[in-house]
Amino acid sequence: MSEQGKFIVIEGLDGSGKGTQISRLAAALSERGVRFELTAEPTPHATGGLVRDALGGITKRTPAELAGLFLADRIAHCQNPHNGIAALLKQGVTVVCDRYYYSSFAYQGMDLGLDWVMSANLGCPAILKPDLCIFLDVPTEVADRRISLGRSSREIFEQAETIERVRRKYFEVFGILSDTHNVKIINAARTPDEVFADVWAAAAEILDGTEK
Ligand code: TYD
Repeated sequence: MSEQGKFIVIEGLDGSGKGTQISRLAAALSERGVRFELTAEPTPHATGGLVRDALGGITKRTPAELAGLFLADRIAHCQNPHNGIAALLKQGVTVVCDRYYYSSFAYQGMDLGLDWVMSANLGCPAILKPDLCIFLDVPTEVADRRISLGRSSREIFEQAETIERVRRKYFEVFGILSDTHNVKIINAARTPDEVFADVWAAAAEILDGTEK
């Protein structure tokens, strides 16, 4: 039996450089011979399509509906028998996931209050707990500038005042989870190389099993 894979989540504001750091992490894992899969939320499953339609404004959803859709999508993401996170980890595959329930806490928690969003996710036995969450932290102005450079249109959570509220919510959430979750907050307003040095140090710590 192969050893259980590690479950690593990368979180950050839109424009925090998640994509770049995830690519670098993937390259470093390959180089090291670690079996891994990259995955993301919203997922490519049917539930993820519903989420994307809501985020793009194609289908209007209430904040509670959106939180419920993300929850359903996360359950599919964890439990799909073919490519679900649980199945991959069991096969010894390390999973690197672009956003997870910390995003629901920050984004949906902002509109709905944290209590039910957190209890619905953390209390659901089908939803797995990550071994590590890396939060790529950038000041709001940096996130806003990077979104402007990269895109011609913005999704519902990408307006500047919303970005600031989301960032504050993430920090509130990490405070609440500080005793129970392994969260590493990394200053991502630096060069990609500098940021990656810290990302790799955090990942290597759990891959080497030296994390406490
Ligand atoms: P997307 O453009 O797919 O990815 P990213 O911004 O990470 O490159 O957008 C995902 C959006 O969904 C982003 O604005 C955050 C939001 N989101 C939530 O509101 N709740 C969640 O639980 C997740 C996973 C994402």
